[in-house]
Amino acid sequence: MGNVLRGKNIIVGICGGIAAYKTPQLVRLLKKNGANVRVAVTDGGARFVSELALATVSGERVYRSIFPPVDTTGTDYTRHISLGEWADAFVIAPATANTLAKLSAGLCDDMLTALFIALRPGKPVLIFPAMDGQMFLSPSVQRNIAILTAQGCSIISPESGELASGLSGLGRMPEPESIVSSLEETLHSSPESSPLHGKSIVVTAGPTREKIDGVRFISNYSSGKMGFAIARAAAKRGALVTLVTGPVHLETPPGVTRLDVESAMEMHNASQSFFKGCTIFVGAAAVSDYRPAAPYEGKMKKDDQEIELTLIKNPDILAEFGMQKAPGQLAVGFALETQTGLDNARKKLNTKNLDLIAFNFFDRKTSGFEVDTNILTLIDKDGVTTELPQLPKDSAAERLLDAIEKLYVKAGY
Ligand code: C5P
Repeated sequence: MGNVLRGKNIIVGICGGIAAYKTPQLVRLLKKNGANVRVAVTDGGARFVSELALATVSGERVYRSIFPPVDTTGTDYTRHISLGEWADAFVIAPATANTLAKLSAGLCDDMLTALFIALRPGKPVLIFPAMDGQMFLSPSVQRNIAILTAQGCSIISPESGELASGLSGLGRMPEPESIVSSLEETLHSSPESSPLHGKSIVVTAGPTREKIDGVRFISNYSSGKMGFAIARAAAKRGALVTLVTGPVHLETPPGVTRLDVESAMEMHNASQSFFKGCTIFVGAAAVSDYRPAAPYEGKMKKDDQEIELTLIKNPDILAEFGMQKAPGQLAVGFALETQTGLDNARKKLNTKNLDLIAFNFFDRKTSGFEVDTNILTLIDKDGVTTELPQLPKDSAAERLLDAIEKLYVKAGY
């Protein structure tokens, strides 16, 4: 990944937090790695770090006000547009609560916020909030972060440690080296080079809940982590990702459109509307195969009698897509097995008319529901079988997407 920064045009935005004193070092590191750097600083930022220092290390003038000095003429007033066009990435570090609010609202009364709006679509924005931990966790800041995340910005959570207030806890800006690594990682997975770039991908994730009565349901241990990791990885490759998820406790990955559903029927209805338009459908949800035939209105009362619950079959969402898919569309599924293994996964690949299936064994320690790692075996419709080692779910998702990309290209789509 060494020189992914070489020749890249990076804007560093600096807001008014004490961590701003570290930013000349950040600029220096970026320059040392071969990047061209321009700096935009807010009025608050300029109180914490000298513009002269920033201009010296970047070798360029520093931008602050959106209005040029009175003695300049001509195109200087449109500098935010030309810089927005110039940039390959925008790093905002530190980002204050105030600037997060401005960015999420679309305000642009200084160079930093105007550049954010003027940046070309698809260019990565990495935001490093740094502030007191309670401020960071306040509902207002979290709401603004959620808005910016949904817009596709990568928000990197602050680290824990000693804070300027004398308190200790969450809020520290990561060190410049770590900021540079995050940027390198982002630029490395250049979306433009992926065959999935601009393609529509639908991912189902999480469990479903099937109502027994108004307060009880049938469900399973699925955490949604695998499906969310796939959605995150696909969005990083520039795909247009829709995530249809059952109830989970996970943040929406950057740039992903999320639809929350509860039951298998809701997941079915939400997914079906994308069957025709999507290029790839990935069924990573643990959809309940059955639902109570007649859920009770309100809460069922206890008495001494045994009760019988009649369950009826839910539609198989992935199989439906598999049967309906047209040339140019790919269906990808999962097979979570407890006893029978690969043979059953192969059977599912065929009966559901899938292009690829990821088999994983369920032991609740290294693989399957809830845990953070997975051991996948990928089987494609031509019988090519790839065994992956135990990997964090994010890495397993990347490998799955590599396989999907290969299939897509091989099929000549
Ligand atoms: O048949 P089985 O439930 O093991 O199939 C697993 C695969 O099928 C997963 O990819 C899952 O998301 C999908 N599936 C589905 N709708 C169902 C059941 C399973 O999309 N009702």
